[in-house]
Order: sequence, then C-alpha cells, then structure tokens
Amino acid sequence: MISDGKVLNNIIATQSVHEKYGGVVPELASRAHQQHVVPVVHEALTDSGISKGELSAVAFTRGPGLMGSLLVGGSFAKSFAFALDLPLIEVNHMEAHILAHFIEDPKPSFPFICLTVSGGHTQLVLVRDYLDMEVIGETLDDAVGEAFDKTAKLLGLPYPGGPHLDKLAATGNPGAFVFPITSMRGLNYSFSGIKTAVLYFLRDRVQGDPGFIEKRLPDICASIQYTLIKMLLLKLMKASTTYGIDQIAIAGGVSANQGLRKALAGLSEKLGWQVFIPRLEYCTDNAAMIAMAGHFKYQKGIFCDLDVSPSAKMKIGDHGKNK
Ligand code: KG4
Ligand code: ZN
Repeated sequence: MISDGKVLNNIIATQSVHEKYGGVVPELASRAHQQHVVPVVHEALTDSGISKGELSAVAFTRGPGLMGSLLVGGSFAKSFAFALDLPLIEVNHMEAHILAHFIEDPKPSFPFICLTVSGGHTQLVLVRDYLDMEVIGETLDDAVGEAFDKTAKLLGLPYPGGPHLDKLAATGNPGAFVFPITSMRGLNYSFSGIKTAVLYFLRDRVQGDPGFIEKRLPDICASIQYTLIKMLLLKLMKASTTYGIDQIAIAGGVSANQGLRKALAGLSEKLGWQVFIPRLEYCTDNAAMIAMAGHFKYQKGIFCDLDVSPSAKMKIGDHGKNK
C-alpha cells in the first residue's frame, strides 16, 4: 500500500514450499500465489486502515517472471480494479527493483547506474529518470543469483543457497581457492562457467578426501563469493568510467549479500562513488517496490487496459503499452 509516495506497508507471503525441491517449482509457485493473494491484499488494507472505496489505482507486476505466477497476480489485479472501477497500472519487475531506491532516504539523483542482481537477472541499467531507463549490460546466460544458488546446491546447502553461502563466506578465506573470472565483451556478464568450474573442483577434491567439503566449507563459500563479486564489480567499474557516473545503486535479491555490500563500501571510499543500497526487505522481491513503481506511473497518468496479458519476458522500457 502506498499513499502520496509514502509506503504504508509491505505485506509479503514467503513461499517455503520450494525448499524441499531445491528450486522454485513453477506450478507450485502459481498455486501458492492463488492461496496467498486474497489474504495478502486483505491484510494490506486492514493494516493501513484504508478502505477499498478510498483506493485510487491498482498496480500489478506484468513481467518479467514466471508465467503462472504473473497470471495469478495479473488476473486478481484486473478483477479487483474492474470491480472497484479503478485504473490499472502494469509494473515491470526489474524497474520496480530499481525504484525501490525511492522508498526511503537517502535517494539517488539522476542519472545513476544500477546493478540489478536477482535470481533471474543480472543487469547494468543507466537510470535517467523514474521511468527512463536503459539496459547497458546484462548476463548472456545465468543470472548471478542462479550462480549463487547452483553452486550452493553443489555444496549441499538448502535452497535458496545465496543467503547460506553468504553467511558461511563471512568466516572463510576468500583467497583459499581460485575460480576463473569470466569476462564478456562490453558490459555483459556470463555466470554459467563458474558452476561447471566448482562442480569439477569439488569432484577432484572429494575424490582425494571425502570429507573435503565439510572441512573447508567456509573457505569454499568465501572463494566462490569472492569470484562472483569480482565479476560483478569489474563491469560496474567499467560502466562508471564509460558513462562518467559515480552515483551507483544496487538492487535485487543478491544486493542483500554482505560481501557485495562490504566490497561496494570499499570501492565507494577508493573511487569516490556515492553508493545506494536499499534496506534488506526492499532488496528481495517485495510489494513496496511494485507500489512505488505504480506511484510514479500514476503521477504521469500511465495506465493500461484491462485486457493486458502477462509478459514473462517483459523488457525494461516496455511500459504503458499493450504488448
Ligand atoms: O530479487 P529476488 O528476491 O527474486 C528474483 O526476482 O529472482 O532474488 C532472489 C535471489 C536468489 O537467487 C537468492 O539466492 C539471492 O537472491 N539472494 C542472495 C542473498 N539473499 C538473496 N544471494 C547472495 N547473498 C545473499 N545474502
Ligand atoms: Zn526480483
């Protein structure tokens, strides 16, 4: 819920159903969305003390994301808006991660560069205005969150592995083991190689010492994390010099990573960057960022039709149009 640009609440239903499968099961995700959507909206209204009759608009995530989950959220938003005769606002998931920076102070000023790092995306975005963004670099294969989760899975850590790997890395030596740094052309990334590198590394080490993973877990985690962060920061530094911009923001689930936050703080001192990192609850997927993005579109009067369909591969900049 948002009122005049101020977030009133951020109600989230976490789906634990995926843990035992070691990854998100799309069908279970959409079913869980179905179960949660009405209670979550009800709680958001009750908690804010605002009645349905007082609402001015309904915002929903149109994409990118899992088709089934987008369908559930989109269908609910459409019927809710239709029943209450309210305008409907489609929100791009990746733009919303970036606009989470405008929920609380300190807020970046334009232009700034945002490194958006999540389970499904890794993008460098040049942000010229609230609704004027350009992707200047991105991963050509896996997202960095996927690299965290897949390597964590190889180490036997629970899903999602990113936060577990992060916690273990804090007590390990990042220089204990060396993994290859993959560098793509321009400002693009590739994270598929590290999973294979870790797979072969573990296979070889475990062959000589079956207890290797248990004995060296923090060191392995710290070394993997060091490599992933290094890859992220090399291109971020390149983007900063290419565009002459030293206002740097990070967004998305992986921006909760303590190692990344620490490394950015170091760079901010060394390079004179002004670094913006949202509070943890606004880094991972959340309702407030969708509301914030909805607010900026509402201000500009950018609404969509009720017959708009989900867009699983929606790109940054695809807003206000019926695709
Ligand atoms: O943005 P997000 O909540 O959902 C997507 O849109 O994907 O990002 C989820 C991703 C997962 O891959 C998860 O492992 C990762 O963010 N993540 C982390 C940490 N917290 C969440 N990765 C590394 N360190 C963390 N502390
Ligand atoms: Zn996300």
